[in-house]
Amino acid sequence: MMFDRRAILTALLATAVSFSDAFQQPLAYGNAVGNTGSSTVLNMSTEAAAKKLPGTAQMDKPWEKLGFEFRPTNSHVQLKWKEGEGWSEPEIIKEPYVNLHIGATVLHYGQACFEGLKAFTHKDGDVYSFRPEENAARMQSSCRRIMMPELPTDLFCDAVQTVVKDNIEFVPPYGTGGALYIRPLLFGSGPRIGLQPADEYTFCIMVMPVADYYEGGLSKPVDALIIKDYDRAAPQGVGAVKVAGNYAADLLPNMESKKKGYPIGLYLDAKTQQYVEEFSTSNFVGIDNKNKKFVTPKSPSVLPSITNKSLMQIAEDEGYTVEARNVAVEELKDFDEVLAVGTAVVVTPVGSATILGQDGEEDTVYRFGEEGELGETTKRLYQRVRAIQMGDDEDTHDWNMKINND
Ligand SMILES: Cc1ncc(COP(=O)(O)O)c(C=O)c1O
Repeated sequence: MMFDRRAILTALLATAVSFSDAFQQPLAYGNAVGNTGSSTVLNMSTEAAAKKLPGTAQMDKPWEKLGFEFRPTNSHVQLKWKEGEGWSEPEIIKEPYVNLHIGATVLHYGQACFEGLKAFTHKDGDVYSFRPEENAARMQSSCRRIMMPELPTDLFCDAVQTVVKDNIEFVPPYGTGGALYIRPLLFGSGPRIGLQPADEYTFCIMVMPVADYYEGGLSKPVDALIIKDYDRAAPQGVGAVKVAGNYAADLLPNMESKKKGYPIGLYLDAKTQQYVEEFSTSNFVGIDNKNKKFVTPKSPSVLPSITNKSLMQIAEDEGYTVEARNVAVEELKDFDEVLAVGTAVVVTPVGSATILGQDGEEDTVYRFGEEGELGETTKRLYQRVRAIQMGDDEDTHDWNMKINND
């Protein structure tokens, strides 16, 4: 048999390049600077060696279509806390694994909390993360409630800087609607077998590129189920903090609502079931357009959402009266628009909320706005908060923290 040595060498070289690339990153899909095809791989590595730029990682799908899913990136950041030593310096770890003691309190007693925030590429190519100090403060309150050492705000922000910079090419380009999702977590990693707090803690941040939760920005209104068979948070429990156990407890009600055809579940207060609290992973907002009111439940068992806090400020800036107070279930009939608000979904319009009838009774259905239509206030609030996050509107409240990529 005859061999063409040059053809074999070329093929071997091509395999080596694509293998090493695939080893580090998902399959190539072109990139933000517009190159596609095999030459991109070589150009990219030369550019990346000089200074890595946002939106230049090669993804398996276009940035707009990434959805909200786990995707591997270069690294995560880790800090440790030890009794008598305090917090270590942030360390970049290339593998997405944590080596954990089998007696770690996180595994036995759920001593863990987490956060969620985003970073965005602005038009000028700089990257900013949205209100990280607020996430640091909320994580500190979670730590106090489950007896973990608080990570100071400056260390939290340093860790965000470190991990975003190391993964800067995964921050979606301006104009794609995407963001780098930043997931900090803090947990007891020291062993204990009696019920008591650990003597060692680990703080990590992982990051991944995500697209709009719903492609193209705002979704069509979703239908909510008012959950009557389960409670999310006891009145004096842990609903106001972002501890891991809250989310394990919500898996079953969440899945059951979805199976019944409702993409989102709305919880009531556990004590009386008379008042609206919040959705599984987002706060509740009701809009009364005639009286220009923005209404949101105030309860010791609702998680204080940073998106909601920002929207309350924006609504106030736009001349709305903001009311944080008890919201009775019957009041649902008075709202023109209802929104689910949070970091992942930003602003999701809710078209209806249903209480399923018991024992053959009819369902009670509250409808908001015109069927299938987006409300004016919903659109306006969404556009305003997105414009600030993307750097298109002036950041009058100083919410964006610039990532130092020098
Ligand atoms: C229970 C719950 N409510 C509300 C929110 C929204 O909070 P944020 O706007 O800070 O993401 C979240 C998400 O963190 C949540 O898990």
